[in-house]
Amino acid sequence: MIIKIINLTTLLITFSIASISQRFIVDPYIQPGNSPSLSREDKTIIWQTDSIPGKFTLQFNQVGNDQNASSAKVSSKKLHFNGKTTYLYRATLSKLKFDCEYSFQISLNGQHINSGSFNSRSKLSQVKFAVLGDCGAGTLQQAEIAYQIFQQKPQFVLVTGDNVYQNGLAKEYITKFFPYYNSKTASKTLGAPLMKSIPFYLLLGNHDVFGADLEKTNDGLAYFYYNDLPLNGFYTNHSTEVRGSSELVKSFKKNTDSRFPRMSNYSFDYGNVHIACLDANPYVNPLSAELIQWLRDDMNRSKAEWKIVSFHHPGFNSSKAHYDYQQMRLLSPELEKLKVDLVLNGHVHNYQRSLPLTFDPKKNKDGTQYILTEEGRVDGTFTLDENFDGITNTKPKGIIYIVTGAGGAPLYDPSLSGKPDLWKHEPQENWVPFTAKMFSNIHTFTLIETTSEMLTLKQIDAQGSVVDEIKITK
Ligand SMILES: [Fe+2]
Repeated sequence: MIIKIINLTTLLITFSIASISQRFIVDPYIQPGNSPSLSREDKTIIWQTDSIPGKFTLQFNQVGNDQNASSAKVSSKKLHFNGKTTYLYRATLSKLKFDCEYSFQISLNGQHINSGSFNSRSKLSQVKFAVLGDCGAGTLQQAEIAYQIFQQKPQFVLVTGDNVYQNGLAKEYITKFFPYYNSKTASKTLGAPLMKSIPFYLLLGNHDVFGADLEKTNDGLAYFYYNDLPLNGFYTNHSTEVRGSSELVKSFKKNTDSRFPRMSNYSFDYGNVHIACLDANPYVNPLSAELIQWLRDDMNRSKAEWKIVSFHHPGFNSSKAHYDYQQMRLLSPELEKLKVDLVLNGHVHNYQRSLPLTFDPKKNKDGTQYILTEEGRVDGTFTLDENFDGITNTKPKGIIYIVTGAGGAPLYDPSLSGKPDLWKHEPQENWVPFTAKMFSNIHTFTLIETTSEMLTLKQIDAQGSVVDEIKITK
């Protein structure tokens, strides 16, 4: 009798441990997958569990066509960070139809444990997406912005870098990113279940590469673990580097597959919008032949009606913070030639919208551009379109540059908000009054909606109010 009781107790304990061990550390979320153009559509679903490996399967089907479910291959990576083992799973859903709703079911050992649905990419001209930057700081404002993005029902979200603070670590994604954008319910204090059904396109900011020395932080460069983005970019010795013992680097490369460093630069189409996402960290040379050629090929290949480039560090910034880092200005003449409509940046923790502008960097006697100071200031000649107001005059002459870095981290230079006299910098060949609007005392995100004829840009605050709005027509 005693033996029977012990056996029962052992059984209960074992069952309990097994139940607890199959815990999600990160709930399943949608990623764009490696499908840049509108010729093929994939999605990837990713989730992370704790130390006990599980035999997961994933089935998906077009909503309304339940009889024809397909199985997606599930792969797993064993991660060992900071003394803890976890498992990261990915399932790629291939050859999806465009403009369709899909549902998926995840099973563990044959039992359904999670399900969800998402829309595949659209080929239509009406696109709606949200943009935010500098967000994963674990703040109440981050949750409020996530909640307001959720209210807008965007088709996708673009994050302009500094995805998590301070060092782009896996543990920072787990505590300061997923809880806010992949929460179970929508709440102004907790965030919203955005990633459950909406793909996020992230790019590299400076904080995202701070953890590149794996000897110091073995869960660094987590961008390459948690994202599954188009692999159509270029990489050179100007791309981010991973450092550490050969064993740590080998393990990192094994667990990030071909995503490192390929996902440092990429582009994608969504409906009538084409977006190129670039790494703009200091190790990047914005005038490198590889970057310029890739950008030319990429933009010229695209038939999209609206062309957008996004990178973290703005070239045009009237804030005090990060004013000197201007190297991405050097790319402006190329972007103008390629007829880019809009540039979306972060890094500076506020909102700034430029007038439409063209910029001709000052050249050396031998005809090459140069960077004025060690800090990275770039002088040049500005041409501003002061007639554009985005309301009555909606045809910009030049590119509009947006800083949308108020997604959650503490704000920069709040005293500058609405006070153009305080935005000045000297000398004139380095700064002219190119900033049309600045909100630096409120957290905000950008909402962009397109049709064939018009692009509408709204800046929305943490309470859901539109604080700035412009329309752009061709
Ligand atoms: Fe930054």
